[in-house]
Amino acid sequence: MAGGDGLFVRNTWYVCAWSDEVGARPLQRWICGEPIVLWRRSDNRVAALADRCPHRDAPLSLGSVVGDDLQCGYHGLRFDADGVCVGVPGGERVPSGACTRAYPVVERWGWVFIWPGSADLADPALIPDYHWKDDPAWTGKGETLPVKAGYGLLRDNLLDLSHAHFVHRQTLATDGVIEFPIVTEVHDDRLTVLRDMHDIAPSPFFRRMGGFTGNVDHRQEIVFTPPGNIVIKLRVADAKQANHVVEMRVLNALTPETENTSLYFWSLVRNTSLDDSQLTDWMFEANRSTFDEDVAVIEPQQAMLERAPPPARPIRWSVDKGVTQAQRWVQRLIAEEAGNAGSV
Ligand code: FES
Ligand SMILES: [Fe+2]
Repeated sequence: MAGGDGLFVRNTWYVCAWSDEVGARPLQRWICGEPIVLWRRSDNRVAALADRCPHRDAPLSLGSVVGDDLQCGYHGLRFDADGVCVGVPGGERVPSGACTRAYPVVERWGWVFIWPGSADLADPALIPDYHWKDDPAWTGKGETLPVKAGYGLLRDNLLDLSHAHFVHRQTLATDGVIEFPIVTEVHDDRLTVLRDMHDIAPSPFFRRMGGFTGNVDHRQEIVFTPPGNIVIKLRVADAKQANHVVEMRVLNALTPETENTSLYFWSLVRNTSLDDSQLTDWMFEANRSTFDEDVAVIEPQQAMLERAPPPARPIRWSVDKGVTQAQRWVQRLIAEEAGNAGSV
């Protein structure tokens, strides 16, 4: 496709589904404001087409999978995984040019990644690293959270964990998160936000998850890969007993559905007590409660932005360093795709 629309980074991979969501029944998703239909073919590969029949605009996801093709549920045109119309009811000749757009998709680590930009730029080597999701040395689980807010607000939330002190009183809050400063680093392909907290009281979550009774040393390293990939690496060690340590990864794939709505794919994994399914379930529920606390702030934040324009010069201080750098980075990528890189 030519040029960007100024709203989204399109030449990138976004998570669009969990592998087990995609089968022989069509699944609709909206990605970057575009309707997309996914299904799985007999050779197990996932196909993705524009979810709009080129005949009369019916969503193809209302149709059905026939063989390896998708048949529109309105008048029965059939499309293959390349989006080419391969059958007309009654055996009539296929009208010339009858096709719909196909999107590159790659399945990896239990997620399905889609490239909404120019198909010839879709290099699987650019898929962001979420290998912990199905690495046998790690275990955990996650889900998809539909959020009525732009994905940028989720990204900002995850890049500044100082909010934990106020938003996550019941789960992640520790005083250390606002007392210890952050260090940000920008690399070619990622931005990191590091906070090292020493000899602090563990949050309610870590007290239970790691069995800590006294103070801990807690390292948070947030790794951001634009536009919406965030891996939070957490390490908590007993402040007096350094070999009592737990590590976790919070895997966050933020996908824009539309300008004002997102799909938040997350998974929480740990590298200890791998066989303890009760711990997995408890961590999952605790993390879900934590994200519900975030959404309870972010959706009203989105509503506020839609109803009243934000101030021209928002207040910034030290906690905003990572957020600001990530915002500028994404704006630059969007401008580059729109062909006016000089304007940002
Ligand atoms: S709208 Fe799809 S075949 Fe008519
Ligand atoms: Fe949060």
